Amino acid sequence: MTVPPLAPYPATRLRRLRQADWTRRLVRETEVRPSDLIWSMVVHEGEGCVPVASMPGVERLSVKEAAKAAVRARDLGIPAIAIFPHIDPSRKDATGSIAADPDGVIPRAVKAMKDAAPEVGIMCDVALDPFTDHGHDGVVENGKILNDATIERLIEQGLMQAAAGADILAPSDMMDGRIGRLRGALEADGWQDTMIMSYAAKYASAFYGPYRDAIGSAKLSAGQGDKKSYQMDPANTEEAIREVALDIAEGADMVMVKPGLPYLDILRRLVDEFRMPTYAFQVSGEYAMIKAAGANGWIDEERAILESLAAFKRAGAAGIITYFAPWAAQKLG
Ligand code: PBG
Repeated sequence: MTVPPLAPYPATRLRRLRQADWTRRLVRETEVRPSDLIWSMVVHEGEGCVPVASMPGVERLSVKEAAKAAVRARDLGIPAIAIFPHIDPSRKDATGSIAADPDGVIPRAVKAMKDAAPEVGIMCDVALDPFTDHGHDGVVENGKILNDATIERLIEQGLMQAAAGADILAPSDMMDGRIGRLRGALEADGWQDTMIMSYAAKYASAFYGPYRDAIGSAKLSAGQGDKKSYQMDPANTEEAIREVALDIAEGADMVMVKPGLPYLDILRRLVDEFRMPTYAFQVSGEYAMIKAAGANGWIDEERAILESLAAFKRAGAAGIITYFAPWAAQKLG
């Protein structure tokens, strides 16, 4: 007599729940919605739309076009737009002196966008690099990026952005202590409702390459050719915890990890550790890679975009700053 083998456990078959679209939808743990997206957008001083060569599908928008885009964001259910300026090289200098100009392209865009679609949140980058001829995020002296002198400039810039109507200020410079100083300045000036999203764990990354093309920021000159003295070492994770703890203590309302996909482990750790609204920035290089591979037929571009956005949600992101926002919102809405 042959004895049938004893099943070690009941017949668990995980594929049962994967057999049809309806079961897959029923058990799905995370879902990306248009309300998870912050549209990363470049604005320029000229007229019309100018394509960015290294980021197919992304254009620099004039103030007028940015206002139209804000209406589009509202219609698509995108809650917020992050704007970055392209500045004419002839107007840049060593200290980025026009960074806090109240008539600059950023405050003009903020006003136009808030007039056109007041329901859409506008986030501004607090940083000097679009305005400096050397491309660094800070004031440079003898090859050194000065921390405290830079903060003074960032405060001027941030207050100007708040006065223009920006809802969220997002310092991306990585100077020490800037969140606390900016928070204090906002409170003192009557901008207590202006939010701060700190680029808290921002790494010195190769994935920002196409952004330089998009905003026309200077190639960093020889000898000071990288941002490693202020942005984080990609090898570090404990340090990200210290950065974020400080920014929260200094008054950040939201924190960000940047770049996105290569740093999902950092995102998950920060969410688990602090339970703060934590955002991922899917940066220019991540965008360009997906577009380039898609254009070559090497990956299914649409699926790759949606999969990458889902990965951020799965890793715990409260939202994703991405150049794909309008396309994705349309697809998901
Ligand atoms: C700098 C800044 C950068 C980006 C946003 N703000 C570039 C850098 O830190 O060198 C990158 C955005 C992107 O790559 O999409 N203040």
